[in-house]
Amino acid sequence: MRGRRVAVLHGVNLDHLGRRPPEHYPAITLTELEVRVGRFAHELGLEARFDQTNHEGEYCEALHDAGETADALLLNPGAWTHYSVAIRDALEIAALPAVEVHLSAVDEREEWRRCSVIADLCIGRVQGKGVEGYREALEMLAQALEGSS
Ligand code: DQA
Repeated sequence: MRGRRVAVLHGVNLDHLGRRPPEHYPAITLTELEVRVGRFAHELGLEARFDQTNHEGEYCEALHDAGETADALLLNPGAWTHYSVAIRDALEIAALPAVEVHLSAVDEREEWRRCSVIADLCIGRVQGKGVEGYREALEMLAQALEGSS
């Protein structure tokens, strides 16, 4: 189990964490978030690998690559979550256990944020728990990987 690789893929606008509405998002940068998630992963015996892009095709390519190089996926595609069929298809191709995470409480915001086009391909979904939500997501992945090893 030790050292199983989790690709943590952040999507559009998450590079501007720290400048987003404070009522929804924590006041930390993406780099700070990644450091914390890296520590959570280490505590669970997982190796987190990080990527962020503002380009949908690059996010699809990151999913294609992860399908070959990772054991599991932790995904926060940002706004793409709500409509990107291309990312959904790429996730299907990656064929890895995946958890969808949102820092904010998407189910309590605008109606359209409740829609996720990737949720049914994921083993779990965490929303509205800020940075701690990533720990929960990693725990779900650790459990899934344990069951598969
Ligand atoms: C988000 C929620 C999305 O609705 C939004 O477009 C984001 C971030 C979150 O982490 O809460 O950019 O995925």
